[in-house]
Amino acid sequence: MVRTILDRPAVAAEDWTIPQDWDGYAAAEHAMWDRLFARQARMLPGRAVTEFLEGLDILRMTRPGIPNFEELSERLMKATGWQVVAVPGLVPDDVFFDHLANRRFVAGRFIRRPEEIDYLQEPDVFHDVFGHVPLLANPVFADYMQAYGKGGLRADGLGAIERLARLYWYTVEFGLIRQGGDLRLYGAGIVSSYGESLFALDDASPNRLGFDLRRLMRTPYRIDDYQQTYFVIESFADLLRQTAETDFAPLYAELRGASDIAIEAVLPSDRVFTHGTQAYAHAKTARRIP
Ligand code: PHE
Ligand code: FE
Repeated sequence: MVRTILDRPAVAAEDWTIPQDWDGYAAAEHAMWDRLFARQARMLPGRAVTEFLEGLDILRMTRPGIPNFEELSERLMKATGWQVVAVPGLVPDDVFFDHLANRRFVAGRFIRRPEEIDYLQEPDVFHDVFGHVPLLANPVFADYMQAYGKGGLRADGLGAIERLARLYWYTVEFGLIRQGGDLRLYGAGIVSSYGESLFALDDASPNRLGFDLRRLMRTPYRIDDYQQTYFVIESFADLLRQTAETDFAPLYAELRGASDIAIEAVLPSDRVFTHGTQAYAHAKTARRIP
C-alpha cells in the first residue's frame, strides 16, 4: 500500500473501478498466471496458514487462468459477502478505504511481464488476487478487512493514516501467524512472492516478533525489499479483537509525537520468536556503493 496516485483515468468510473475485460487477456497472460500459481501452490502447503489454502479451494482458484472477477465475486459473495472489482492501479486512500468498508476488494487487472516475474513495483493481478482474495473467504479475516476500511475513513479525519498504514503493512501484507505451534504465512505480500515465502519463515536475517499494536504503529517498513521485521499474530480472532473491537482514537492521541523505532530493533519488551541477524539487509546496504 504505497499510495502515490495521479488523476483518475478517464476510463475509470467515479469510484475508480474499470471493467476487468476478462476476454481481453492474451493466452500469454493466462500462462503467466499459471506459472506463478504453480510455483506458489507447490510451496505454500505447510507454510501458509490453512485458512489461506482453504480459501483457494472454496473460491475454486485452483482452476487455470487469471480468475474472472465476476465468477470469483459470486463465490466470495456466498462465502462472506465480499466482491472483487478491477481498478487501473493504485487508488487514493479514501477510495480504497471506502471500497473495503463496503466489502469490495480492489484489484489491478494487469499481470506482470516475464522479466518482472520476481520483482515488480506496482501490485498486479497475481499479487492482488492470489495474495489477498483467498483469506477474504474466511469470515473473521473478512470482517477484519471491512473494519480496517471503516477505520481508514476515520483515521483520515484524525490525521493518523500513516499509523494505520503500518498496521495494514505488518498484518494484511506481511503478517505471520502461529498455527499448531509453528509460524505460518498469511500476508499477501509474502504468499504472492516466491522469494519472500521462503525468506519470511526460514531465513535467519529478519526479526520475528509478537504482534504489539502500539509498537507496530511506531515501526517503519520497507517497500523496496524483504522486510527486516515481521510481526506474529496468535489468531485472526485475536487480531480482530485487538483492532476492530478497540477504539483507536485514544491510541493515535497517545502516539502523537512518539518517536519511531528503528526498523531492525529488538526491544526488551518484545516477545521474540527470532532475533534476526539482519545479515541479508546489511549485505545489501554494503553493496549499495554510491
Ligand atoms: N477500531 C479502529 C478504530 O477505532 C479501526 C480498525 C478496525 C482499524 C480494524 C484496523 C482494523 O479506528
Ligand atoms: Fe497488497
